[in-house]
Amino acid sequence: MATMYSETVLTVRHWTDTLFSFTATRDPGFRFISGQFTMIGLKINGRPLLRAYSMCNANHEEQLEFFSIKVADGPLTSHLQKLAVGDEVLVGGKPTGTLIQDNLRPGKTLYLLGTGTGLAPFVSIIKDPDTYERYEHVVLVHGCRTIPELGYGELIVNNLREHEFFGELVADKLLYYPTVTREPFRNMGRITTLLETGKLEADLGLPRLNKETDRVMLCGSPHMLNDLHQFLLGQGFHEGSHHGAGEFVIEKAFVEK
Ligand code: A2P
Repeated sequence: MATMYSETVLTVRHWTDTLFSFTATRDPGFRFISGQFTMIGLKINGRPLLRAYSMCNANHEEQLEFFSIKVADGPLTSHLQKLAVGDEVLVGGKPTGTLIQDNLRPGKTLYLLGTGTGLAPFVSIIKDPDTYERYEHVVLVHGCRTIPELGYGELIVNNLREHEFFGELVADKLLYYPTVTREPFRNMGRITTLLETGKLEADLGLPRLNKETDRVMLCGSPHMLNDLHQFLLGQGFHEGSHHGAGEFVIEKAFVEK
């Protein structure tokens, strides 16, 4: 039987009708690599119900943090969305996942492309000083339907920019590009369109995406993953995994919650 920790919820914050984040205590024995996920959940009718969740805290932080969707009839999230301070949450002790630096060949610019809660694995990655040692630029693109859905990511990035130790590094290297598809905003359009047209790179003052210098991590809905996968293959990128490093990696572990 794999290790299962029982942790205590410390804070809960609701962002929209469909998104919330929470922090919990962290067992000192719980270690992970930035970008990984673990199984978390609740005991429901006496039985553990678990789903894959990326850690949104950095490995050096004392608390665990997660970013979740709320689905009214979701087997887990219909319950998880009611979490309150002091509640217990189950945290599996075997983190895993493909969105890790070892699965990518060295490069100059790292593109982190996420939609919705697909932002989550990138939160631990942008909080990890090692990420900034590996790349000249780290581009975080978060695509959502509406502006309020960007709230969690905006707070994370703002906190990092003001961080005592990382602030300067982040100001230098982290390029944050929130984009919205269903209401007016300063950046608009799907990530696929922004890349196909080159608008993303143009807005950021970067050269067009290319496999010689750029590395890409993808996390989002199955449609988004499929479309961006095809796009990257078309650009000559190779997919990396535990079997060998490549120019892009995809997280496929997230299913209906
Ligand atoms: P859109 O509003 O045009 O559907 P969702 O909540 O459905 O996962 O969507 C989150 C964001 O991802 C939305 O901005 C949505 O745009 C966008 N999106 C949905 N499907 C794709 C796709 N196949 N490729 C890129 N972006 C997508």
